[in-house]
Amino acid sequence: MSSPLRLQKYLAQCGIASRRRAEELMAAGRIAVDGVIVKEMGTQVVPGKNRVTFDGKPVEAKEQLVYFLLNKPKGYVTTLSDPQGRPIVTSLIKTCEARLFPVGRLDLDTEGALILTNDGEFAQKIQHPSHGIDKTYEALVKGCPHKDKIALLQRGILLEEKMTSPAAVSIVAHAGRNCLMQIIIHEGRKRQVKKMFAFIGHPVLHLKRTAYGKLSLGRMALGDYRQLNPSELNKIFL
Ligand code: URA
Repeated sequence: MSSPLRLQKYLAQCGIASRRRAEELMAAGRIAVDGVIVKEMGTQVVPGKNRVTFDGKPVEAKEQLVYFLLNKPKGYVTTLSDPQGRPIVTSLIKTCEARLFPVGRLDLDTEGALILTNDGEFAQKIQHPSHGIDKTYEALVKGCPHKDKIALLQRGILLEEKMTSPAAVSIVAHAGRNCLMQIIIHEGRKRQVKKMFAFIGHPVLHLKRTAYGKLSLGRMALGDYRQLNPSELNKIFL
């Protein structure tokens, strides 16, 4: 059960009005608790227990919308349940009671930036192709691709009967016989990055998403997460 809170605060949380305006509504006799009009400013209510109405209509608590950026470790699935009993990404967010879900997917063995939220509309918006949000990945690939092969990925390749969109692809560093590549795509096809590098003969050995739009992981350690504020959310769309 929730803890008690002042009626005007509860009304504001439910999106009825600002606290001040809620006080005016109370004073005007338009708010009732358990069927009784309440004008007392100190009145406390317990959400879920007391029945609050505004002009006779029930006032429902709105779940607060929250947004997290997680640095997903390997070994976690981005589904909400797993028949094989593997750990689920949402279990890593320990400080939030809201029912979160991941936006989009990352493979079991992929690490990196994953957004979790309880805002379905936002999740749909950022995944919609019309926004074409860039996703930046660092891929350790086998061998080191020749510039002609890199150019192929940059222009687009035929993957499962559909061309991939132009991508930004560059070499970040040589790692012994292998190569660390950066690739920026704005599509979200299943295992797309792995399939693109496999296509040019350089399979991915390790994959990490480093940024979602202009929202990057920065120094976050694997398994770390943080709540995003509105200006950080806007970075996704830059
Ligand atoms: N592309 C992949 O191949 N795997 C991911 O997890 C994400 C993008």
